[in-house]
Amino acid sequence: MERTFLMIKPDGVQRGLTGEAIARFEKKGFKLVGAKLMDVSRELAETHYAEHKERPFFGELVDFITSSPVFAMVWEGNNVIATARQMMGATNPADALPGTLRGDFGVNVSMNIIHGSDSAESATRELALWFDENEIVSYDKTI
Ligand code: CMP
Repeated sequence: MERTFLMIKPDGVQRGLTGEAIARFEKKGFKLVGAKLMDVSRELAETHYAEHKERPFFGELVDFITSSPVFAMVWEGNNVIATARQMMGATNPADALPGTLRGDFGVNVSMNIIHGSDSAESATRELALWFDENEIVSYDKTI
């Protein structure tokens, strides 16, 4: 079963949007199999966003992600990587459609509520970076 890494960013946590985001993914039928509220070290943030290292906004991005807690999650489901990205909307909330998390709640390209892995390769890398295998649970949905 496909898995992805999703993270409610500091703006989403502070604005109380964690539950809203979880509810949308649950109602879509995806399964939450890992979750933790955590402060992010600069080392973790810099590793996570390493592909943006040369971008002018890299420092600002790392400052923001380490500024207050994030809610890191592992979600499981058919095509969850691409579908979660669709449900998040475009990176810049100004371009994100209504009905998406960023379209409905995003403020700007930094405060865009949520991060989600953009490919199977990213999901594999990010899940290994953020979660130990023993932090991910396995269960059947029977109710
Ligand atoms: P995310 O999906 O977490 O992946 C990289 C992040 O970089 C992206 O969301 C944005 O929040 C951020 N980002 C992209 N472009 C800019 C920018 N011009 N200024 C600040 N942050 C940006």
